[in-house]
Amino acid sequence: MAGASVSTPDYSEAVEAALGKLDLEAKARLLAGQDMWSLPALPEIGLGSLVMSDGPIGVRGVRWTAEDPSIALPSPTALAATWDPELARRAGTLLAQEARRKGVHVLLAPTVNLHRSPLGGRHFECYSEDPYLTGEIASGYVNGVQGGGVGTTVKHFVANDAETDRFTVDNVVAPRPLRELYLAPFEAIVENAHPWGIMSAYNQVNGTTMTEHRHLQNEVLRGEWGFDGFIVSDWMAARSTVGDILGGLDVAMPGPRTVYGDALAAAVRKGDVDEAVVDDAVRNVLRLAARVGLLDGVPGAVAEPPAALDGQALAREVARRAFVLVRNEGQALPADPARVRRVALSGAAARDARVLGGGSATVFPERVVSPLDGLTAALPEGAVTYTVGADPSDELAPADQGFELRAVCRDADGNVLGTGSLPSGQVQWIGDDLPAGVTHEALHSIEVTGTFTPRESGEHTFGTRGIGAFALSVGGRVLWEGAQAMSDAADPFEAFFGAPAERGRVHLDEGEPVEVSLRHTVHRTPDAPLTAVMFSLTHLGPRRDPDELIAEAVEAARDAELAVVVVATTDRVESEGFDRRDLRLPGRQDDLVRAVAAVNPRTVVVVNSGSPVELPWREEVAAVLLSWFPGQEGGAALADVLLGHAEPGGRLPTTWPAGLADAPVTEVRPTDGQLPYEEGLFIGYRGYDRAGVAPAYPFGHGLGYTGWEYESLEVTPAQAKVRVRNTGTREGRETVQIYLAPVADAVERPVRWLAGFASVAAAAGESVEVEIPLHGRAFEVWDEEAGAWTFVPGQYEVRACASLADARLSATLEV
Ligand code: BGC
Repeated sequence: MAGASVSTPDYSEAVEAALGKLDLEAKARLLAGQDMWSLPALPEIGLGSLVMSDGPIGVRGVRWTAEDPSIALPSPTALAATWDPELARRAGTLLAQEARRKGVHVLLAPTVNLHRSPLGGRHFECYSEDPYLTGEIASGYVNGVQGGGVGTTVKHFVANDAETDRFTVDNVVAPRPLRELYLAPFEAIVENAHPWGIMSAYNQVNGTTMTEHRHLQNEVLRGEWGFDGFIVSDWMAARSTVGDILGGLDVAMPGPRTVYGDALAAAVRKGDVDEAVVDDAVRNVLRLAARVGLLDGVPGAVAEPPAALDGQALAREVARRAFVLVRNEGQALPADPARVRRVALSGAAARDARVLGGGSATVFPERVVSPLDGLTAALPEGAVTYTVGADPSDELAPADQGFELRAVCRDADGNVLGTGSLPSGQVQWIGDDLPAGVTHEALHSIEVTGTFTPRESGEHTFGTRGIGAFALSVGGRVLWEGAQAMSDAADPFEAFFGAPAERGRVHLDEGEPVEVSLRHTVHRTPDAPLTAVMFSLTHLGPRRDPDELIAEAVEAARDAELAVVVVATTDRVESEGFDRRDLRLPGRQDDLVRAVAAVNPRTVVVVNSGSPVELPWREEVAAVLLSWFPGQEGGAALADVLLGHAEPGGRLPTTWPAGLADAPVTEVRPTDGQLPYEEGLFIGYRGYDRAGVAPAYPFGHGLGYTGWEYESLEVTPAQAKVRVRNTGTREGRETVQIYLAPVADAVERPVRWLAGFASVAAAAGESVEVEIPLHGRAFEVWDEEAGAWTFVPGQYEVRACASLADARLSATLEV
């Protein structure tokens, strides 16, 4: 576990003094968001307004706009692939720095739900299928953020492991898997990092909505584990005044319309809620405020923020350390820059990189280095040829490349109220996040207007997404005027980020700018919990014949020393608010890879996805490098790794199946509102082991650019001491993994499980010894009858491994 947790001074006196000055109304008000991201200030007790923001790869701040850019680190799956809690701690330190820069006191992160099924839409935003690895990475992260004086909300408590019907689904989980898998990371983080907050999930667990779950929130989290932070609802998750406050939920977000505030004060007056319960929730918020330095007269938990970090450099370092080289036949990588005269790069994502996952995790980085940018900068001029090869985005998406857009806001008489620049064709203004001078009351229409300069000649398609009346014109020609009615999608993400509608096509010439305009008359939904304006101008470039695109890439690859194909998921495949339907790469990307590999034996495939995809051609190519969603510096890091300036340092934090059907859990849609976790303990590698199925690439797998010999292993119940030697010719880093396998088991348990790990660096030829603590729970199970953890004595084989499937040394331990 990385770094010490921040110890909190005893704030009880200050908290009691502040609480004593508040009347019931003020207390109830403090427990409800005043807007999308903040709690009200209470000047009478010297309390500032507490501001929260997503999370987890950057700090977006309170506005959804590129005008307020953020460093974008690699996705959480990537961070977990580093297997390095110390690096996660540094990432956290950087995020605290970003939060302070933006006036944010609490970061809505990390996400520690598990990779129960690869179909989970937010898989990219979680760390791993293994609870121990998840807990260690997240503890490092929380220690980093809080060490910078900024709070965290570990989320989503608990069992929010898929997105389908996430507001209502009842996840039915038996006590053992609940304790040993899903609660385990939360418990470890509370123990190791003392988070100042937890976010309560949308879903139900075993029949009770999580925000109202008195047993899990009050008895387990606070009672058994001693959590002393605040519990905040996921956004719009709180639905019952009395149920939530009695269930242990402290804060209902967002505001201003919530089930707390006036409704909570009324419930107390009516006698449905004891005021002492409200007081406890207020204490939790006041303690948080004191910790982050928002309560006058008491110093925050961190007196001096740590020294500043360089965000771009750290984003690049984490990306390099996260890339997982899963295949490298004949040492295809690294490529020798002196010998590579021509690199044939293809794939739509090589040019328009997908650097982060969508939904609430979105941030707007100041710059994005694509693989094309990164390789072009790293190689002599003219060395890189680029062809699209295959474009997986065959749907309209928010207008982006080539568009320069702004929003002009008008009142009902057509007077301009204000204008704002737009990062893309997507308008998403929630609460007070409006251009200067604009209010929701006065706002009648918004015109998204500006120019579009096409990258390609041909027929361009334009469309809209969102509800309400629209008028769309391109080059002065009206393409469509009409209204879009509300769909019946239940999840707001699905409703607003769902399928866009095509409205017209125009022939345009490469490099010739045209005027575009989308006028939208604001649509008001009475009684909506949030006042928001959400709609998009969407676009799709000219469709080329897919066979022709592939043929072009093949021609370019034929004589190149190195062919690099970047394949990717799209945000219609992998994002927040919905689950995946399959694990296939969209479009003709598989065909592209096969065609390029057929003409170039040095074909390297870079997989730009947040979570597993099927790679049916994996044995036909020289190398496969998983780059995840690599953050804003991904392309620069990719060049570092392909050209051997750095090793790809990652190991799989989750099993990559050969095909979806092999995964232990392939059903994430509830039946009659319920989703039974029927597989019990057997998710991820625990499930593959039980079924005797070999995946494409096992948990913990990843190749570097040097070799390792495991020289010795000594074990005690508390630790494994491993000596490894770097047998290669360059310095490198190895992730030494310790798995326990019970020799004979009296209780039902997985075949083996992760008990400890360490990241070790060594120079060429150097031998290094590392002491790896084995976590205590590795020898325990949750006894369902006793309702307690119980130690399982007996013989265990302790294996020192380079991956789950690559045991190098083993020893027997009797405990
Ligand atoms: C997500 C949370 C996020 C919140 C605020 C919710 O939809 O589930 O993870 O922090 O929105 O953006």
